[in-house]
Amino acid sequence: MYPKIEVNIKGIKENINIISNECNKHNIFISVVTKVLANNKEIVTKICDGVKSIADSRVDNLKNYQNINAEKWLIRLPMECEIEDVIKYCDVSLNSELYTIKLLDEEAKKQNKKHKIILMYEIGDLREGLYFDKLKETVLECKKLSNIIIYGIGCNLGCYGGVVPSEDNMNDLVNAVERIEKECDIKLEVISGGNSTSYKMLKEGKLPERVNNLRIGESIYLGTLPTYDVPIDELNHDNFIMSAQIVEVQVKDSLPKGEMLKNSFGETVSFEDKGKMKRALINIGKQDTGMDLKPLDENIDILGGSSDYILLDVTNSKKDYKVGDVVSFIPDYASLLKMMTSEYVRKEIKDE
Ligand SMILES: Cc1ncc(COP(=O)(O)O)c(C=O)c1O
Repeated sequence: MYPKIEVNIKGIKENINIISNECNKHNIFISVVTKVLANNKEIVTKICDGVKSIADSRVDNLKNYQNINAEKWLIRLPMECEIEDVIKYCDVSLNSELYTIKLLDEEAKKQNKKHKIILMYEIGDLREGLYFDKLKETVLECKKLSNIIIYGIGCNLGCYGGVVPSEDNMNDLVNAVERIEKECDIKLEVISGGNSTSYKMLKEGKLPERVNNLRIGESIYLGTLPTYDVPIDELNHDNFIMSAQIVEVQVKDSLPKGEMLKNSFGETVSFEDKGKMKRALINIGKQDTGMDLKPLDENIDILGGSSDYILLDVTNSKKDYKVGDVVSFIPDYASLLKMMTSEYVRKEIKDE
């Protein structure tokens, strides 16, 4: 059945090994970020064998991965309504709000557990995290909590503002860590220097020595360096292939006819007049994927999409596409996230 996504376990595992080996050279351990797998326990179990830490943004997913012998990190700030499950199913959580950390402490007491936190430091991307004075104040308060262990300090880049790791912001992180250790009389075990975007500095040997953890998602799955938006040569790039079936092939105009207002996604769209073209519709759309897809047939162009269809220009393809033919694509990370989350995209796991 289509649409489907083929998942190549061997390729993903190879990427984990290559990235882990590179990290090991610099005394860094990785947290394998599993959120894109959208609670697919079979895949996570296969790829996370032997990893030290699994990181996910959803407690429900980590709850489902309890069979895997790895530290479970919640990398999205905990909500007040999920505190009980965070303590039950997560060994570590990223945090920035003292209010939430106090709730975690109370719940940890009830469950007779210790919970580790990574406090997030704001170094410029402006999503989660505290500026230095607030960070220090929070560390001092957290030290008073009996069931909270301040495991370390972390930062996140690239996700909101598209800010890339640099010697400046990484040194800022390490200076903050060292000041906190000194001024709060505490030793921090984990310095988490960001996500896949930090892999570039790591390979160049430019990450400060104190950074000893990276939380890696996209590079593992797609072999790409986010924010820079380039492939990483030594990694596999075709671990996920989406295929969908053609349901209409017709020669039509390239310009819509009639008064044009907004499309069904509220966008104002414009088109180039290329004359008549051979157009194909496939049965997957914006409900189940993004549009940033690389066709395996390089002579296909993606014209756009609506919730249920993607429209393709197959005029220049060497293949004479017909209804029923299947076309395949490599998704970008955002599209992959949607496909893996969608119940309507069949997952085909290849493990040989
Ligand atoms: C806090 C945090 N850490 C790490 C990651 C992993 O990012 P990437 O997939 O770019 O490696 C994400 C996003 O998924 C995140 O939100």
